[in-house]
This record gives sequence, structure tokens and C-alpha cells, in this order.
Amino acid sequence: MTNITLDNITQAVINHGDGGQSHPRLYEIYTSLVTHLHTFVREVNLTEQELQLGRDFLNRASHYTQEIPSGEIHMLTDLLGISELVELLHDINRGTATESNLEGPLYVPDAPKRQMGDRLGVDQAGDRLLLSGYVLDLNGQPIPDALIEVWQSNSQGLYDLQDPSQPQGNFRGCFRTKADGKYEFETVVPQGYNVPASGPSGEVLRLLGRHTWRAAHIHFKLSAAGYSPLITQIFIDGDSHIDSDTTFSVKSAIVKLQKHERPEELFAHNQNKPFYTTEFNFVLQPTASETSRVEHLTLLKQAGG
Ligand SMILES: [Fe+2]
Repeated sequence: MTNITLDNITQAVINHGDGGQSHPRLYEIYTSLVTHLHTFVREVNLTEQELQLGRDFLNRASHYTQEIPSGEIHMLTDLLGISELVELLHDINRGTATESNLEGPLYVPDAPKRQMGDRLGVDQAGDRLLLSGYVLDLNGQPIPDALIEVWQSNSQGLYDLQDPSQPQGNFRGCFRTKADGKYEFETVVPQGYNVPASGPSGEVLRLLGRHTWRAAHIHFKLSAAGYSPLITQIFIDGDSHIDSDTTFSVKSAIVKLQKHERPEELFAHNQNKPFYTTEFNFVLQPTASETSRVEHLTLLKQAGG
């Protein structure tokens, strides 16, 4: 095409191909992305210097660093609210089932298998937390043989992957419910943490006056035969960043902690210092998916069941 102008360049880019005949969905996404990017460039009247800054930013964000071994692109989508927006778009038909949430970059498959009531981490530092609840269906009936994978930061806000002083698998675990659908384990009250901010994403956040804190939370991944898998997070009420989590992922799954410090409470729970308790029930949606059933049976087999 010749005679490219401000008026025809966007359509020229969109038309430069087979019009989506080969890959309709890709073409749909591409067309919309090009349209919005061109609109953005016009709207802010982007200069050549600013465009080069943007190129350099994306180039640096995609590089591997020690702080973020996979590069910053995943984190960038979290920080821009895009990851949570995608969650929200596809979690609208859950009804009374538990809300889904971001998996985040620190999930590790094959978490240590643990028995109900076990301690999740070896650290003695921090406030102890006894977390319990049930895995239920939409009718409030318990779901047996559900697998619950848990991962969280320690009392210093660090995951095992980020902290050489923690043993591998610390504050991670995989539990399996029995007939009553109940789960319970002992852990520490997680602390909020800063997302890695030494790279280009952190630079931009600082220039925008944005902080890098995530509110304290615990990650969960649940699966059960006949139910849709659930990835979610629960947040600790009262955390100083509960209203301003930098990934915009705090929704309604917020738990209040109850403190116990009377001698008879310590004795009853076999604790030697004040501790906290809280409860959270997970509600799973049924699925007719054969794939989900087979995947769960594979996980059960790996878990020794
Ligand atoms: Fe996390």
C-alpha cells in the first residue's frame, strides 16, 4: 500500500495479512490490540524519544535477573491489573463457589505431602496460626479426597525460593481431605512483602508514586474429582496494605484472626505461646469435564492415594 497517512495507517496494518482466515482468534486479538495501541499513540502524542524509552523498558523487563529468574513480564501484567482483570472476566459464573485468584510466580508443583494438623513450616519465628475449614460443594456438603496445596511466605515475608536459609518446601504442603471434607494445619501468620522492585517495573512504580507491597496472604490450589480446580488466595484482615495491594487482587476472601493467650487455650492446643486461629471454607463448582477428573486422579496417585 502506498500513500500511507495518519488516517489510513491503522487499517493498513490490520489488513496486512489474510484477514484472520488462518487463525481467527489470533486475528481478533491482534486487530483489537493494534487499534488500541494506535489510539494510545495518537492520544498521548507519543514522541520518538518516548517510544525508544518504551522499547528499552520492554527489552529490560524481559531479561532474566537473579531477583526474578523468569523476567518481569508476568509481574508486569500483575502490576498493571491485567492478570486480575482476566481473573474477574472468567470468574463471573461461580455463584456461591469460592472466588479464584492469581497463582503468582512462586507456585511449585509436588509440594510436600502432609497429614491434617501438621505444621506447614519449620520456622519457630513469627506468630503461630492454626488454620482450618472444610472443602464443600455448592450445597454445603463435604468433598472427600480433595487435594489442597498450600504455599505462603514465612513471618519475614519470604518464600523458600527466595531465601537460602529456608529448607526447600518450607511453608508449602499438600493435604488430602477425608470423608468430612475438613482440613487443618499449623503455620505462621504470613507477612506482606514487596514484589521485586530493582528492575524497570520498580523504577516506573517509584516514578508514579506507587508502592510495591502485597498484602499478607496464603495461596491455595484445590482439586477434587468432579469439580473445577480452584486457585485462590486468602488475605489477612488488618494488614496495612489490604486496601492497596499492588497486584489489585484483594477481593472478598479476607479472614480475621482470633488471638488466644489464656493458659487453658494454650494447653488445649498444645501451644507454648499465644497463637491465632482462623477458619475458611472452600466451595468448589461441579464440572462435567472428563479432563478434570483424569487430572485429579493423576494428582491423587502422585499424592499416594
Ligand atoms: Fe504470594
